[in-house]
Amino acid sequence: MATAITNISSLVTNDPSLGHGPLGIIESAAVVIDGDRIAWVGTNSKAPATDSHLDAEGRAVLPGFVDSHSHLVFAGDRTAEFNARMEGRPYSAGGIRTTVAATRAASDAELDATVARFVGEALRQGTTTIETKSGYGLTVEDEARALRVAARHTDEVTFLGAHIVAPEYAEDPAGYVELVTGPMLEACAPHARWIDVFCERGAFDGDQARAILTAGAARGLTPRVHANQLGHGPGVQLAVELGAASADHCTHLTDADVDALASGDTVATLLPGAEFSTRSRYPDARRLLDAGATVALSTDCNPGSSFTSSMPFCIALAVREMGMTPDEAVRAATAGGARALRRTDVGRVAVGARADLVLLEAPSHVHLAYRPGVPLTAAVWRGGARVR
Ligand code: NIG
Ligand code: FE
Repeated sequence: MATAITNISSLVTNDPSLGHGPLGIIESAAVVIDGDRIAWVGTNSKAPATDSHLDAEGRAVLPGFVDSHSHLVFAGDRTAEFNARMEGRPYSAGGIRTTVAATRAASDAELDATVARFVGEALRQGTTTIETKSGYGLTVEDEARALRVAARHTDEVTFLGAHIVAPEYAEDPAGYVELVTGPMLEACAPHARWIDVFCERGAFDGDQARAILTAGAARGLTPRVHANQLGHGPGVQLAVELGAASADHCTHLTDADVDALASGDTVATLLPGAEFSTRSRYPDARRLLDAGATVALSTDCNPGSSFTSSMPFCIALAVREMGMTPDEAVRAATAGGARALRRTDVGRVAVGARADLVLLEAPSHVHLAYRPGVPLTAAVWRGGARVR
C-alpha cells in the first residue's frame, strides 16, 4: 500500500539532480512510500494519488540520520569520570577498563536491553541506520558475545577487539595483538562487517594497527580506524593507505593527513560529542571540506567519551564549533554517514532508496542547528514503517 507525504515545505533529497544545491532541496514537495522503499519524489502539485496520505502541513522532511559510529554494547556507568573531567581532569582512554569490567560481568539479557534502549533512543531522534561496535569485552568470548548482541539490533556491526590492550595482557601487548589477529578474529569475523582499531598512544601503535586491520581484511572485514583523536599519529595515513571506509575522530591532523583524506576514498568521520564531553578541541571540519574531503558526522555514543545518541545535537555542535554550515552538517549526518558505511540505499531520498525519513517540527533542516536542544523530530519512518 502506497502512502504519500504531501505539503512538505522543504525536502532534503541529497540528490542534486532532484533539487537545488548540494542537498538537492525540493520546495513544496511530496514523497511516496511503497513498502520499504521510496516510490516517487517531486513537487506537491504533481504528487500521484495514493491509498493513504499524511499532510506535512508545511514542515520539512529529510533522510533519516546515518550514525556510522557508536559503542552501544556496554554496561556500567562513568558519571564520576565525567564529573572529574568537568572539574578539570583530562580524558584518559584508561577509563575504558572500567567499562570492560562492568561489561564482562553483565548478562546477555542486560547487554541486549542496553543496546535496544539506545537504538530506540536514537531512532526517536531520527537515526534510522546505526553502526555499533564491540570493544568492551576484550576476551574471545566477550567480544564474540558483544557482536552477537549488536547483530540483533543492526546490520552495521564492527569488531573492535583492539580498543585497548586487555588488562590480562598489560605486560604482553604483542601477545594481545596475536590473540586479536588469531582466535579472537576467528570467533568474531562471522558476526561483523567491519574491523576497527583504536590507533592512539596508550592503545595501539601504527604497526600493531596495521597487523590487526590487515588480518581483519584477509578475513573479509573492511577496515575503519579510530584515528588522531587525542594527538597526532599514524591512524589517518594508515586508514587511507589500507582503503579504510572511514577514519574516525580526525581531531589532530597535519596538512599531509588532510591531503591524504582529500585524495583517498576514506571518509573523515567527525564525532563532536567526544570533544564536548571531554572538553577538548573540536576537529576542524572547515579545513577538511575546503580540501575536498568527504565528511561524516556521528555520535560516538559510549559511556566514556561521548554519552549522546543525538545526531541533532552533533549537527548543532558541528555548526557552532567546527565551521560547518547547516547544509554541510545535515549532509554529513545523512549522506556522509551512508558513505562512511558504503551504503547507497540510505542517506538520500530518491526512488528506490530505503524509505527512511524524518519529519521535522520546523520549516527547514536549518532549524536542527538554529534551535539546538529542541526535540524537533515530529515523525520517523524506517524502511517505510512509521516508528515515531
Ligand atoms: O571513540 N577512543 C576510543 N574509544 C571511544 C571511547 C571509549 C570510552 O572512553 O569508553 C571513543 O571516544
Ligand atoms: Fe569511538
